[in-house]
Formats: sequence, structure tokens, C-alpha cells
Amino acid sequence: MKRFRQLTLLYLTLSVTTAALPANEQEWVEGLLQQMTLEEKIGQLSQLGIQDTPTGPVIDQGTQSHLPESMVGSILGAYGFEQTLALQKHVVTHSRLHIPLLFAFDVIHGFRTVFPVPLAEASAWDPDLAQRTARAAAIEATASGVHWTFAPMVDIARDPRWGRVVESTGEDPFLGAALASAKVKGFHGAGPHDSSFMLTTAKHFVTYGAAEGGRDYNVADVSERTLQEVHLPPFRAAVAAGVDAIMPSFNEIAGTPLHSNSALLTGVLRNQWRFTGLIVSDFNAIWELSQHGVADIPADTARLALTAGVDVDMASQMYRRYLPTLVRTGQIPMAAVDAAVRRVLQTKQRLGLFDDPYRYSNEARQRANTLTPQHRALAREAAQKSIVLLKNNDALLPLSKHLRNVLVVGSLATDAEATIGPWALAAHPEDSITVLQGIRHAVAPDTEVVYLGGASPISNAVDDLAEVLQAARDAEVVIAVLGERADQSGEARSRTDLGLPGAQDTLLRALLDTGKPVVIVLMNGRPLVFSKTVREAPALLETWFLGSEMGNAVADVLFGDINPSGKLPITVPRNVGQIPLYYAHKNTGRPPTGAGGYESGYIDELWTPLYPFGFGLSYTSFSYDTPRISAERLASTESLTVHVNVTNTGQRAGDEIVQLYLRDDVASVTRPVRQLRGFRKIHLAPGETRSVNFNLGPQDFALLNQHFSPVIEAGTFTVFVGGDSTTTHQARFEVTDSRELSASGPSEPPTRAR
Ligand code: NOJ
Repeated sequence: MKRFRQLTLLYLTLSVTTAALPANEQEWVEGLLQQMTLEEKIGQLSQLGIQDTPTGPVIDQGTQSHLPESMVGSILGAYGFEQTLALQKHVVTHSRLHIPLLFAFDVIHGFRTVFPVPLAEASAWDPDLAQRTARAAAIEATASGVHWTFAPMVDIARDPRWGRVVESTGEDPFLGAALASAKVKGFHGAGPHDSSFMLTTAKHFVTYGAAEGGRDYNVADVSERTLQEVHLPPFRAAVAAGVDAIMPSFNEIAGTPLHSNSALLTGVLRNQWRFTGLIVSDFNAIWELSQHGVADIPADTARLALTAGVDVDMASQMYRRYLPTLVRTGQIPMAAVDAAVRRVLQTKQRLGLFDDPYRYSNEARQRANTLTPQHRALAREAAQKSIVLLKNNDALLPLSKHLRNVLVVGSLATDAEATIGPWALAAHPEDSITVLQGIRHAVAPDTEVVYLGGASPISNAVDDLAEVLQAARDAEVVIAVLGERADQSGEARSRTDLGLPGAQDTLLRALLDTGKPVVIVLMNGRPLVFSKTVREAPALLETWFLGSEMGNAVADVLFGDINPSGKLPITVPRNVGQIPLYYAHKNTGRPPTGAGGYESGYIDELWTPLYPFGFGLSYTSFSYDTPRISAERLASTESLTVHVNVTNTGQRAGDEIVQLYLRDDVASVTRPVRQLRGFRKIHLAPGETRSVNFNLGPQDFALLNQHFSPVIEAGTFTVFVGGDSTTTHQARFEVTDSRELSASGPSEPPTRAR
């Protein structure tokens, strides 16, 4: 355990207050607990899954019409005031102790109004935006009876073969931590006294995104250093922000599945981080302990999970079936069950459900809060900010709204399902503005917009090629909407070939051969690997899956009403064989220079990415001066200010995301070649210069030494500031003394909103 204790406040400082319920409410919960039978207690630890799309093998869980009233504490997948009200009434009325249910749902990036998928929204590098979209999602979902979301997903994802990259904020722990914290705050809002407060879950704890080969659910074999420096920090940030629950991941790490991993669940989360919220299993994952081969008989799955620290069993029903006997035969102490039940009851108490079990299910509120003009406006803003302009030769974009004829081609242009992505279960695709609709709304009345499907991501032939080519020859501009369908990324959607699926590349080749200007609008849930053909196109707009207002936002950028400002939160590789490829890599003993020979590289491909982390163009251009630092030498207790002048050198106003990276030049252990340590979005008028300041403090200079103790080591650091992770604008400073930092965890539990 010692090694985990060392991971402490390296990257995050907690501001802590009180976690617990007031004493009288705690007493009330204790009183209730004492009245409960063993079966009733275990019922509180059991979550039934009734959603339409179960995300795993279906195990008989009873049905909604035959709810085992006293044997269920929460439900996954119910929503809408009618359904939640009916279920709540049934359970509250028919159960012996009238304990209300918690309704859980995957509110990932919106509810009925859909915001950009998390990977897209991360491209905005905008925690305030992330907080506001979470707030809007919570307002809609709670008005529909939902108490608890299984979000934010804070997995670090450095392998675009893994389909769940779409649900992540990408490859970087610093950006990931900032967005994790913003999401928790947004879902929470003003606190549980307000019935738009939604319980949150940071998932999937931990290293799920490091699945070997990018194959979903696969083993993650990461070093302790990578675990501590890369995968844990976003969870730490979520805990610091007061997250209510943690969901362990499906995978194993170092031979122990996370659902039986007491070192991480109890050791790190409970003991070291003082996390007092719920630990909820992933779907069927307790049952899956037998598939992993660590449980011989089914009862062992329940014993291992509860002993490791999992409070709530989602869907597998292993707790309901086996915990009673395990407790009666002394294999599980009653105190362990009581501790988990207490956490569930306290959560219900915090939400005020014992006073009013129906406070979240309210028809008038649901009607007033669903798909409102305000939420749609926010969806459009978020979508605009999430678009990344990757290429724009000869300023082909923005297009004029007054064109004789535009050809829009590609089935994704009319695919409303694709706008909402793979993980928006309460959404209605028909609410979405497709890309074609957005373009039609945006152009001037005299501009003819011709649409032809041409190719889809799931067909291997181009439809009506001759007609498409004729239309392309007749058009002034071709807009090719290409990429993945919604069901080609997400859970269990790993891919080995990251090119454009289906015949889209063939279509594109033919379009480019017409000599007409072709703008590619990419819709996809992961970085794709661009073929030679894709790389030939003069303009490339990465739009991901942008939600309900996707079409309008894409048109806003295509036709210049909005100047794109998104930056990649994940590296775009040149070739699948380079994966995992990320900017914060180590130098190695033979760093690649591109000169060939015995250095770290490939004989058949460059080692560099096609587009680096942090990259994104604008319709204007920005220049950076050399950064200035407040001191060239400073003590390990001191802070440093970094100033940089950024100028808009183009003709349009624009937003720039200024990024600061830090390198510890020499240390007792190897360090990444650079690490993101600050970012700021600024708006600049044409010709305007702004000075941007960043503060670096002792936590930024710290590292874990060979013994995993946090230390600051004397020596030089290089700070880089610029518009992406390859910036060469730099300054150097020296920290003059070495110092050990405290290895103890937070002295008090983290803040829980009340
Ligand atoms: C499985 C997924 O891994 C998890 O993210 C999700 O919350 C649950 N299914 C419930 O839908």
C-alpha cells in the first residue's frame, strides 16, 4: 500500500470542508439501518438495469412490472417523469420501509438536448463551457426524474483504436483533470437543496483507456509511474471536486481486476483520498470476476467485490443472490454490508428523497426544461467551439454564402443519428440539425445546394458515381461529409484500421480528380488515420459528433460566421502502427531526429504525428513572442510567472488557445519531453496583441522519485508557450534547491456539495 500512499497532492491541491451529513441526519440514517433486515440491506446495494440497450450480457434481473420492491436500491435506465414516478410510487408504497429508489442514467453529453461528444467538447479546451453543458444536461435529466449520472468519464485515452476514445477528453491528464472537475461542478449546480442537482460518477477507475491493442475490455499493463502520473490525476481532480461515486473499470491491472482491487478501491480511494461516496460496479462487472478467472464459484464474485470496496452491484445480481449466505456464514462481516448500505442511504438522504421521494419527477418541470431554446443555443455554441480546422490551403475556407452551386456529398451529411454520437440514450435524432440542413439554412437563397449520398461508412461501393462526378463538375465547391457512423465508435467498437470506412476513400479520390475544390467535413468519434487521398484535400474540418445543433455549427464555420478555435485534445497519428502516440512521451536514450540510423523511429514511416496534440488552425493567424519569466532562478517554495505576448496577425478576429508546457530538463528519473501545465483561451481583434500570464508553482516542479516519493529536485526547467504541443517559443529557469514534499493524503475528506 505504501507505494500508493505516495501519490498525493503532486498535481492537485484540495480545498476541503466537511463531507458528512449533519449529526441529526446521520442518526436518522442509523435508525433506519437498524430496522432493516439483511435482505433489505442487500437490496439497497443492488441496481437493476432496465435500459433498452444493456451494455453487456443480460442476466435475469426481474422486470419492471415485477419489481422486487424491497430488493432494489437503484435503477439504471429509467427516465421520464411518468416512468420514474410510477416506479418510485410502486417501491415507496409497497416496500416495508418505504425507502425510495435512486434513478441512474448515462447522461454523458446532454440528455434530450445533445452537446458535443466529450472528445469533441475537449477540443474547445474550455472548462467553463464543459461546466455549462453539464449544468444544462443536469437540468433536463433531473426534470425527467434522473438523480444520478454515470459521468464524467475521465479515462485518459492514448489509443484511437479503442472505441471509447469518443467518451474521453483525450490523452492529457492536465486537460482531463480540468474538464473532470468542471463536469462535476456543472452536474452539481447549486447543491442538493436544488432539485436540479445531479449525482456524479467518475469512471472507469482506472486505466480502462490503456487496453492492450486498443481492444475494449482488454488487460491494461501500465507501470506504476504511468498509473500515478497519467491515469489517476483526473480521478483525483473529480474527487477533489466532490464527485459522488466512482465506477471501477472492466479491466484488470497487474493481475487484479478493478472490481476486486482492494489496493486501489479501498487503499487509494477510501484510505488515501478519503473518498466517502459510493463505489458502483460497472454493468455486470461483478459477475465478470468469474470470467477473469479470479472467482471459482459465483458467490466468490460477490465476496471479492464487496471486500474490495464495491458498494453497489450494477445489474449482475451477484450481491442479491449471494451476499445473504456470505454474511450468514460469516464470510462477510455485517459491518461491511452496513458500511455500504449507510453510504447508499446517506446519498438518498442528501438528495432529500426521504422527505419527498418524488421531488425529481415533475411533469411541469420536465416540459419547461426539455430542449429549450437556451439549451439549443448552448448546444450550438458548444458545437462551434469544438470544431478543429486541420487544413485550409489557400484560405479555401470560409466559403462564400453566395455560390452558384454547392455539392454536398456523403451519407453522413443527412445522418441525424451520427450527429448525436454513440452515447445519447435519451436523445431523439429527429431533434438534430444535420450537416446538410445546416448548410441549406446558411447559404444565400440564390445558392443551389445539391445533395448526393455517394458513399456511406458501411457500404463498400460508391452509389451513382457518374451522377456524383457530373454534379461535382457542375459545382463551384464540393463539401464531402465523411467519417464514421455513430455506431462505429463507442463501447465495444474497437477498430484496427482507422481509415475512412467503406468506399468513402474511393469516392473522395474521384471527387479530387475532378479538379474541383473539395472541403472535407469529418464526422467521427476518434482520430482517424488519413490516407494519401484525404491528405490531398485542400481543406479539412474535424467536427466529431457535435450534437443537436451540429449542422448549424458546421455551417457557421464553413461560411465564416464563426472563426474556428478548437485544438486537438489527442494526437492524430500518420499510421496505425505508431499507436500509442502522444506528445508527452519520453526522450529515450536514442531520441528520434529524423536522420535515420540507430535512433528511435521507423524505417517505413516518420515517427512524428500528422497533427500534434493542441493543434488547430483559425481563419486568422497568431504569432507568439518569446516568453518572459519573472525569475531565472527561484527557490523550490517559490512561484514563477510566465508572460507571453500573442498577436493576431491576420485579418479577422479570432480565439486562440494559448498553451504552456513544461520540461524538467534533468531529473533523477526520466521525465516527459514536455507536459501541459496551463492553457488560456483569448479573443484577439485583427492586429491586437495581448500579454497572457501563467503561474507555475511548486506542484508544477514536483515529480515522483525512484521511490515514488514526491520531491522537487534542483535543476533547470524549460517552459514552452505557443499554439500547440510542438511550439518552440521557450524560456529556461532554474530551481535552486531540492525538497521532499509531504507524502500524506488530504487531512480531511473532500468537499461534498450540500
Ligand atoms: C457500461 C459502461 O462501461 C459504463 O460506462 C456505463 O455507465 C454502464 N455500462 C451503464 O450503462
